[in-house]
Amino acid sequence: MPSVYEETYRRAQDEPLDFWAAAAEPLFWHRRWDTVRDDANPPFYRWFAGGRLNTCYNCLDRHVERGRGKQLALIYDSPVTGTVRRFTFNELRDEVARVAGALAAQGVEAGDRVIIYMPMVPEAVIGMLACARIGAVHSVVFGGFAPKELAARIDDAQPKLILSASCGIEVDRVVPYKPLLDAAIELSSHKPERAIILQRPEAEAPLVDGRDLDWHAACDGAEPADCVPVAATDPLYILYTSGTTGVPKGVVRDNGGHAVALHWSMEHVYGAGAGEVYWAASDIGWVVGHSYIVYGPLLRGATTILYEGKPVGTPDPGAFWRVIEDHGVNVLFTAPTAFRAIKKEDPDGAFMRNRDLSRFRTLFLAGERSDPDTLLWAGDRLGVPVIDHWWQTETSWAIAANCVGLGTLPVKPGSPTRAVPGYDVRVLGEDGNEMPAGQIGALVVKLPLPPGCLPTLWNNDDGYRQSYLSRYPGFYLTGDAGYQDEDGYLYIMSRVDDIINVAGHRLSTGAMEEVLAFHPDVAECAVVGVADAIKGEIPVGFVVTKAGVTRGADEIVPELIERVRASIGPVAAFKTAALVPRLPKTRSGKILRGTVKKIADGQPYTTPATIDDPAILDEITDALRGLGYPKSAG
Ligand code: COA
Ligand code: AMP
Repeated sequence: MPSVYEETYRRAQDEPLDFWAAAAEPLFWHRRWDTVRDDANPPFYRWFAGGRLNTCYNCLDRHVERGRGKQLALIYDSPVTGTVRRFTFNELRDEVARVAGALAAQGVEAGDRVIIYMPMVPEAVIGMLACARIGAVHSVVFGGFAPKELAARIDDAQPKLILSASCGIEVDRVVPYKPLLDAAIELSSHKPERAIILQRPEAEAPLVDGRDLDWHAACDGAEPADCVPVAATDPLYILYTSGTTGVPKGVVRDNGGHAVALHWSMEHVYGAGAGEVYWAASDIGWVVGHSYIVYGPLLRGATTILYEGKPVGTPDPGAFWRVIEDHGVNVLFTAPTAFRAIKKEDPDGAFMRNRDLSRFRTLFLAGERSDPDTLLWAGDRLGVPVIDHWWQTETSWAIAANCVGLGTLPVKPGSPTRAVPGYDVRVLGEDGNEMPAGQIGALVVKLPLPPGCLPTLWNNDDGYRQSYLSRYPGFYLTGDAGYQDEDGYLYIMSRVDDIINVAGHRLSTGAMEEVLAFHPDVAECAVVGVADAIKGEIPVGFVVTKAGVTRGADEIVPELIERVRASIGPVAAFKTAALVPRLPKTRSGKILRGTVKKIADGQPYTTPATIDDPAILDEITDALRGLGYPKSAG
């Protein structure tokens, strides 16, 4: 007999329109859709075309009207400021309505863009929901990005207004945000009319006359705004993610398909119910934060946790267990890197022992490959199922998972289990044919994608086709390589492009190479992601200097590090580089990044037959030794 998962998967494959129409029923629609999926203009599919709804209404007002008003909607827990703030659905709805009113008073209307560049404070979540309430399109930019990256997003999204704060707090370090915002607006060609700034007591920021408003002055007395029904196909947000070049891609999220998919996922992927406590320990700047700090739990009527801290150091590796106990967390979602950091500081799990974790039921990991060691360590120490699942900014929810709400399947460490209902995942070879079980190929999803996935890139239909749909016509290219075993379990092994995954953050080595190449002493360069015990991967630079340059690594490397930090941001974690006489290339000039990575990781490699000069690999091996690689070589 097929399992519940298998039966559900089959239904989503065979009758997708009925399947997703049923999933849309629990939400409130101001107008019902005309067609569940509009296939008229492939490859641009539109979910719930003709329907009108409001995502904020479904996250807040719907629950208030159905009697959940006094239940907690949001708990802000900030060990870095020693603060806990709680908002019921009533309170959060009222706050959001006021901020939405303040945005409207500044002329922000449905379809206008609002950039949110804020730390992990409740006002950031309130700002996102306030945009959704009036149909404005938010674009949240992660605080660890430098002004140049923020400027690129301002120019692409062309926001009418920016929401920001005076500072963020990184463990015990105050990071002023306002100077970064000012520098970004200075750099950008598009100039937003208005910025609303939350002044935090840790660092007050001077406001620019005529442009900046104080958050409380602008919002506290504002006339509350009602929800504006928008088309299901209208954009809810744009979220920029690293592409294969230095130019970020603006992933568009619609309102209707997104609300339906996320609502469905809360019950069936995560097994989380209304009234339960759900914690995604991520940042609102990433897709995990959008989907599972903000929209997913609130659509479901669950309580969500907004945590302004780290897994370690705020103040110790017991931080996660303290939050789980204090707020009765049922489900935790984080990146494996957080657990590697905890495991390093508290290998025996001593910090868990005096905590009441009795309400904690399931741990979900995503954002990077879950190494079996970390997965098993977490499961052994916590005594709860640890579920690896695979997804990306583009999809907004899991492509593959062990769907807890559909009956947990046996776990195979190293695999995020099987395709989630709605996703038809295939493994294709170079020639476009499906690979046999066990053999690595490109991981693709057969079109049309399920609801929730990107309908296009912001103002860039061509880029959408080129980046995702042109390599294998009829299929969406995930950018990941991997294989499927005989039982249909997927294994995600690596990227097929230049993206690396640093502490669960997706970064382009190409973007870092662009920065290094601008240094006046650099002739050519390569950046390669090498294995790191905590962050999964970290970037390492290899630089060939121009003829005649006499300065050495001791002078040039710190400058390169500073340039990447200033240009991309601290989040790139670019801290290691070496000067080398030559880069290893094929005869056609392609840099052999894969081989360099294997040398750095201490893995066996074969000298590629197409290499220009095999002796270059010895030079690279020497350079890596100088940097302490491979790590296991002692
Ligand atoms: N604003 C400003 N700077 C920020 C920032 C923000 N919002 N977030 C990170 N940074 C800075 C950090 O201070 C650090 O700077 P440094 O080089 O001066 O120390 C740098 O960016 C890298 O940050 P991070 O990747 O967080 O590394 P870390 O060494 O501070 O912490 C972990 C390592 C594993 C504890 C951390 O990455 C973590 O908690 N990860 C959890 C998983 C996660 O959030 N994944 C996201 C997707 S699910
Ligand atoms: P992002 O868009 O930043 O969420 O990053 C998505 C990328 O992270 C994916 O394309 C994968 O490369 C990687 N990733 C996410 N989850 C997993 C997982 N469970 N296993 C392996 N890789 C993952």
